[in-house]
Amino acid sequence: MDIATTPSNPQGNTGMADAAPTPHDPPVIQRKDYRPFPWLVPETELDFALGLTESRITARLHVKRNPAFEGTRDEMRALRLNGDGLTARVVEVDGARYGDWAMDDGDLIVELPGEAHTVEVVTMIDPSANTQLMGLYASGGMLCTQCEAQGFRRIAFFPDRPDVLSTYKVRMEGSREQFPILLCNGNRIDEGDALEGRHWAEWHDPWPKPSYLFALVAGDLVANSAPFTTRSGREVACNIWVREADLARTDHALESLHRAMKWDEETFGREYDLDLYNIVAVSDFNMGAMENKGLNVFNTKYVLADSDTATDADFDAVEGVIAHEYFHNWSGNRVTCRDWFQLSLKEGFTVLRDQLFSQDMRGEAVKRIEDVRILRAAQFPEDAGPLAHPIRPDSYREISNFYTATVYNKGAEVIRMMRTMAGVEAFRAGTDLYFDRHDGEAATCEDFVTAMEEGAELELAQFRRWYRQAGTPRVAVSQSVEGNAVELTLEQTTPPTPGQPVKGAMPIPLRVAVHCAQTGSIGEEELVVLRLDEETFTLPASGPRPVVSINRGFTAPVTIEREVSTDDLVFLAAHDDDPFARYEAMQDLAVRHLVAAASGTLDQAGRAAGKRQIGDAMRAILLDDSLDDAMRAELMLLPSETYLFEKMATTVDGEERKADPGRIHHEREQLKAAIGFTIKRDLEAVYARVADIPFDDPNGRGARKVKTMIATLAAVSDPARAAAMAARQYDRADNMTDRQGALTVLCGLESEARDERLEAFYDRYRDNPLVIDKWFSMQALSTHPRVIEHVRELAQHPDFTMRNPNRMRSLYMAFAGNPKGFHDESGEGYRMIADAILALDPINPQTAARFVPSLGRWRRIEPGRAAMMKAELDRIADAPNLSRDTAEQVSRSLDG
Ligand code: BES
Ligand code: ZN
Repeated sequence: MDIATTPSNPQGNTGMADAAPTPHDPPVIQRKDYRPFPWLVPETELDFALGLTESRITARLHVKRNPAFEGTRDEMRALRLNGDGLTARVVEVDGARYGDWAMDDGDLIVELPGEAHTVEVVTMIDPSANTQLMGLYASGGMLCTQCEAQGFRRIAFFPDRPDVLSTYKVRMEGSREQFPILLCNGNRIDEGDALEGRHWAEWHDPWPKPSYLFALVAGDLVANSAPFTTRSGREVACNIWVREADLARTDHALESLHRAMKWDEETFGREYDLDLYNIVAVSDFNMGAMENKGLNVFNTKYVLADSDTATDADFDAVEGVIAHEYFHNWSGNRVTCRDWFQLSLKEGFTVLRDQLFSQDMRGEAVKRIEDVRILRAAQFPEDAGPLAHPIRPDSYREISNFYTATVYNKGAEVIRMMRTMAGVEAFRAGTDLYFDRHDGEAATCEDFVTAMEEGAELELAQFRRWYRQAGTPRVAVSQSVEGNAVELTLEQTTPPTPGQPVKGAMPIPLRVAVHCAQTGSIGEEELVVLRLDEETFTLPASGPRPVVSINRGFTAPVTIEREVSTDDLVFLAAHDDDPFARYEAMQDLAVRHLVAAASGTLDQAGRAAGKRQIGDAMRAILLDDSLDDAMRAELMLLPSETYLFEKMATTVDGEERKADPGRIHHEREQLKAAIGFTIKRDLEAVYARVADIPFDDPNGRGARKVKTMIATLAAVSDPARAAAMAARQYDRADNMTDRQGALTVLCGLESEARDERLEAFYDRYRDNPLVIDKWFSMQALSTHPRVIEHVRELAQHPDFTMRNPNRMRSLYMAFAGNPKGFHDESGEGYRMIADAILALDPINPQTAARFVPSLGRWRRIEPGRAAMMKAELDRIADAPNLSRDTAEQVSRSLDG
């Protein structure tokens, strides 16, 4: 091959080999600056000569003028092809060598005089040196790609923006021995042998797509395959591609895919549109999974599952992520995004779709509670901190930083509110109109809202504020009884966020009911929509002691603030007919007690009374026969420390209060101990009931959840007994859920059983990286007094590497999410995370930047810790050659 010696710049042009964008003051991209691209690229031909250390790519673009573009003559002539770290080896226009190209900030610029041209550019890359895992990279001997959001420009010069749609024809060639399987988007149209042990395949994707949906995989893979017949009778070959050793763990993924395909036909009327659906699992992946057209690329974590190596929660995650990427085929691929500011158009909507799917597969109540818990743990803090942004942001420096809980999870909540207001049928009419009207287009959030207005017959003028305003609205509730009615006065405020000091009122749909705590009667549910700053609603009272149940099912992503007696909360926790409202009442009981205790506003008697009341409510839940164990476990779960920080760090009577992680942790442990102690008998009775329920029992999953929950309480109230319980659970376990549950409990204890079982677990699973990730995580998440020391040692473990994102996250993401370790008063936890960011940044900036938000919460933490957190951010900011990803997150965290 002569590729290595091809002169990079035969005309002595200005092209620079590594013209990477400078990290200093990277330009801010503004949503309002959107302009169509001057050129259309109806067809793209790509030719890959694949090698692990050297791949040559020839890209032939058929371009023609875009009639929708308005601009100057010069603007119209220039064709700017984005590149990131690429060098043009050869440039041809209309079949002739072309020397007049220029480079600008990594991009290649060609001047084109006519209406239509063919532009061909050759680039060369070294996939094995690609540690960022964006573009074409090597993972465990195979080659794969990740192009969203802007990775395609690391492979070939191209208008790498989502509104340039093209059909792709791809030829790929490589060693048959190294890469027996050659996959790309669409359908395989031809294949054959080449010289020197090489072979080739040709693929064609008939559906126009943006470059971010391009994918290619070459490797030694085997498939678990089963066809799916669509409702119109088309047979789709479905394949889950993995390394041979993993094949036995792919059934669940394949079945999940079939369930998702069927569900989308039934629920949204969406059918698959190719004869082939390929999913490939790779072990080095920045994210969870990627929806490339006809060729999804997945993190192994979201494909592989069997009961010996994956927990019940892992099974659910596989099903949810498989469904999510499948649903993108319509919400994302057939209708894509005009620009990256519209990301929530595909992500928020697709998250809602996967949530609704999982609700239908596994039960609405538990899934809804889980999703709200995620929202509160990840999105509420984001919305209350320096990184707050609307679900449709106005500006960004690095788009990778905007794949956030706000765009995803709040985005899903916003669309869910439209569904709640419209009703399921009208909502479906709205989505039908949206898909019909914009099929084959690159659309905007505004297009979605307009389709909803027309199709679902909703009036959404004011509702659009949900797309523009950041911050979690607060709804203050007050009530008064007027004869047979309750007057409910609701007042909304949204706190200021960076760049948005003043907010307007938004429509807030709330499902409400008024019960009676005296007669136990359950009131009729109604939907009220709060539109003004303040409004009063009149509801029928169903008895002499009305108790309001509000935001049932969590119909709006807001915080409810109200004066409500503990007795009323106890009543709601035990008797509300809405399962989410029961969960919420339990959370409120605990939050109230813990925040008061941690803020020092409770005396000894108040503390004791609070613990007793929560213990009693917990006992009622343990004894309630009407609950299944899965729901019981949800109701028993105490609010997380992160959520408690949010609740503690608020303004009380005009005074800003800070969160004190040390006190919150202490009080929460105290509460666990008190519960474990005061209702010991009941806990033990339930434990005895669930301990040995067989794995396959219909109640097996619920039983496993309750079992570990009880052992977790015992770990605080009676550590020695808990160690014995957990060791027994570990030894008798025939599945990963019980094993991981037991080991999690043991990890927090000073006990011989801990070290023995940790070692046994390691020995048993040393060859399974996903399970070894769990082994790292459990130790990093533990409440063990020497957790910091353990993490430091684990970083030196031969199995630890920063180059694999799963392994990196299993140690450091877990640790950053361990309030006890991370917020240790020494500040060691902060230093460790900052060191990890600095070490990872040159290797994988996208993943490094994801660790910054944990330090970014400093403003809401008590002054001692806040100063140490900020000092670490300053230290990162001062480091030379910081990536654009990390630089943006650090500077936003410091500016606020
Ligand atoms: N399109 C994303 C994958 C992605 C995200 C690529 C960010 C590049 C940058 C995909 O559909 C996705 O959202 N994946 C999620 C999982 C999903 C179930 C929410 C992920 O990877 O975390
Ligand atoms: Zn997605």
